Amino acid sequence: MHFLKLATFFLPSAASWSTDVHNQIGFMAEQFLEPHTISVVQHILEPQYNGSIGRAAAWADGYAHTDEGRFSYQWHWIDSHDFPPQRCDLDYNRDCAKGGCVVSAIENQTSILRGCIADVKAGSLANGANLTCSYALKWVSHFLGDINQPLHASGRAAGGNFFRVKFGNASTELHAVWDHYLPYTAAAATHPFSNQTIAPFFEGLVSRIRKDLFWEAPYMWLACSDPSTPVECATRWARESNKWTCDYVYSRVNATSDLAEDGYAAGGVPIVELQISKAALRLATWLNKLVGEENQKQVDQIEL
Ligand SMILES: *[C@@H]1O[C@H](CO)[C@@H](O)[C@H](O)[C@H]1NC(C)=O
Ligand SMILES: *[C@@H]1O[C@H](CO)[C@@H](O)[C@H](O)[C@H]1NC(C)=O
Ligand SMILES: *[C@@H]1O[C@H](CO)[C@@H](O)[C@H](O)[C@H]1NC(C)=O
Ligand SMILES: *[C@@H]1O[C@H](CO)[C@@H](O)[C@H](O)[C@H]1NC(C)=O
Ligand SMILES: *[C@@H]1O[C@H](CO)[C@@H](O)[C@H](O)[C@H]1NC(C)=O
Ligand SMILES: *[C@@H]1O[C@H](CO)[C@@H](O)[C@H](O)[C@H]1NC(C)=O
Repeated sequence: MHFLKLATFFLPSAASWSTDVHNQIGFMAEQFLEPHTISVVQHILEPQYNGSIGRAAAWADGYAHTDEGRFSYQWHWIDSHDFPPQRCDLDYNRDCAKGGCVVSAIENQTSILRGCIADVKAGSLANGANLTCSYALKWVSHFLGDINQPLHASGRAAGGNFFRVKFGNASTELHAVWDHYLPYTAAAATHPFSNQTIAPFFEGLVSRIRKDLFWEAPYMWLACSDPSTPVECATRWARESNKWTCDYVYSRVNATSDLAEDGYAAGGVPIVELQISKAALRLATWLNKLVGEENQKQVDQIEL
C-alpha cells in the first residue's frame, strides 16, 4: 500500500491532534450546527475567522506556546494514573492537575461561553469584540477535539510522548502516531489538510455520521452531551478515550516492529476515524445545546 509513505514528507510538531486535524474537526462540526448557532458563533469569533469554528479550532495550540498563553498549556489533556495496557482508569478529582486539565478547561470555558451567548442575544456582543468570549469558543472547539484523542487522557509516558516507536521508517513517539500519522494514514494524505475548508476525507466522515455507518451508532456518542453537566460529560469522554489505550493504543507495547506495517496502523484507522467523528458531532451538539439553553431561558423569562 502506498499510503504510508507520506510520513516523511511533512513533520507536524504540535502536541495534540495536529493543527490541521483540529481545523478539520471544526469544519466537520460546522456541518451539524443549527442556523441560529451559526449566527451566534459569527458574533463571538474575531473577524479574521469569518464565523468559522473550523478556522478557529487550531488557535489554542499556538497560543499555549506563547508566553501569554502558557498557563493554558496543560488544559489540553488529563494525565490519569493508569498503566495501559494492563490498567486503565481515570478519576477527575484525582487526575486533574492543579492548574487545570482538559476536563476542567471544558467546564470553565463552557461556562464563560454561556455568558457570551447571552450577551450576543442581548445585543451587547457582536463582531468578536470580546476576546474572553472568542477565546472561550476557540478553546471549547479545540478541547472537544483533544479529549477524544486517546492519548490526551492517559498518563503513561506523559500520554505516550516518551514512548518511542517506529512508524513508516520514521522514529517517533506513540503520541505523534495518534495525533497525525494515523489521521494522515486514514486519509491517504500526502499534504497537510486545508485550514480554510473541509477536506474530502472529513466530508466522507460527515456523510458516514449522517448515514450511521460506524460500528457504534452516532446517537450513542451523545449519551452525555449536555453542557449543563460539563464535568460529568467531559469525564465520560475522557474515560472512553482512556479505555482505548488499554484496548488498542498500547497493544504493541513490547514490539519493535514498524507500526505502519505490522497491522497496527490498519487496526488504528477505524478507531481514529471514530474518535474524530465523535469529537465533531459532540462539539456541534454542545454548541447547539448551549445556544438552545439560552433560547429556552429567554422563553421562560417571557412566559414569566
Ligand atoms: C466568509 O463567510 C461567508 C458566509 O459564510 C462566505 O460567503 C464568504 O465567502 C467567506 N469569506 C471568506 C474570505 O472566506
Ligand atoms: C478559567 O479561564 C480563565 C480564562 O478564560 C482563567 O483566567 C481562569 O484561571 C480559568 N479558571 C480555571 C479554574 O481554570
Ligand atoms: C467579556 O465577556 C466576559 C464573559 O462573559 C465578561 O466577564 C466581560 O465583562 C466581558 N468584557 C467586556 C469588556 O464586555
Ligand atoms: C522503510 O524502509 C525500507 C527499506 O528502505 C523500505 O523497503 C520500506 O518500503 C520503507 N517503508 C515505508 C513505509 O516507507
Ligand atoms: C493556513 O495554511 C496556510 C497554507 O498551509 C498557511 O500558510 C497559513 O499560515 C495557515 N493559517 C493559519 C491561521 O494557520
Ligand atoms: C509485555 O511484556 C511484559 C513483560 O514481559 C508482560 O508482562 C506484558 O504482558 C506484555 N504486554 C503485552 C501487551 O504483550
